[in-house]
Amino acid sequence: MKPFVIALDGPAAAGKGTLAKRLATHYGFAHLDTGALYRAVGLAVLKAGQDPSDPNAAAAAAQALDPATLQDPELRSAAAGDASSKVAAIPGVRAALFDFQRRFAASPPGPDGRSCSGSVLDGRDIGTVICPDAPVKIFVTASAEARAGRRLKELQARGEKAIYARVLEDIRARDARDAARADAPMKPADDAVHLDTSDLDIDQVFDRARLLVDRALAAQRGA
Ligand code: DC
Repeated sequence: MKPFVIALDGPAAAGKGTLAKRLATHYGFAHLDTGALYRAVGLAVLKAGQDPSDPNAAAAAAQALDPATLQDPELRSAAAGDASSKVAAIPGVRAALFDFQRRFAASPPGPDGRSCSGSVLDGRDIGTVICPDAPVKIFVTASAEARAGRRLKELQARGEKAIYARVLEDIRARDARDAARADAPMKPADDAVHLDTSDLDIDQVFDRARLLVDRALAAQRGA
């Protein structure tokens, strides 16, 4: 049977990552944070002293992406976040990362080199472009203010100096850039379920998502 796919899309700091990790643990699925791919490309370009908006430099960095860099804690920095949304607008970068994501969903890596029965991919275009046939698609949102509050705490926990107004401004700029780009813009798939996490805690978000996944798994077993 084809591996099961849970596609989680939505804007920055809406809670996709936390939800993705919980779902992956609960179902024994592999998890791919696809934003980390774009962050790794953005960071590689910055570290090479190049401009993340330069299509040639960014596409070359995407083609040379070393999966080991996906664990670099610096990927979570504000600078890497900003660079990631610039490289993500470049078609050559998206094309280079497309196969990696498709392969992950088709053969989700599990422990001991074995495949898992499914995967959770979180990003912006999973339900629309990467896995349009995913049996579960959730578009996770939250108000810009709620997301800025969460991102501020994350940055402060990393020891970065940050102020709320600036973080909110960055979130809005990144939303606009991610939604306006011509290639695979951030948008919900027509058949995605919308989940607004502004006033929900992680347990409530997880319970709602679990219902959707359980229903889709039961439908697949019954099919
Ligand atoms: O989810 P994140 O903040 O780590 O994502 C970093 C950037 O990568 C974000 O600005 C948009 C981009 N991205 C994308 O274009 N497509 C994806 N599937 C995931 C992330």
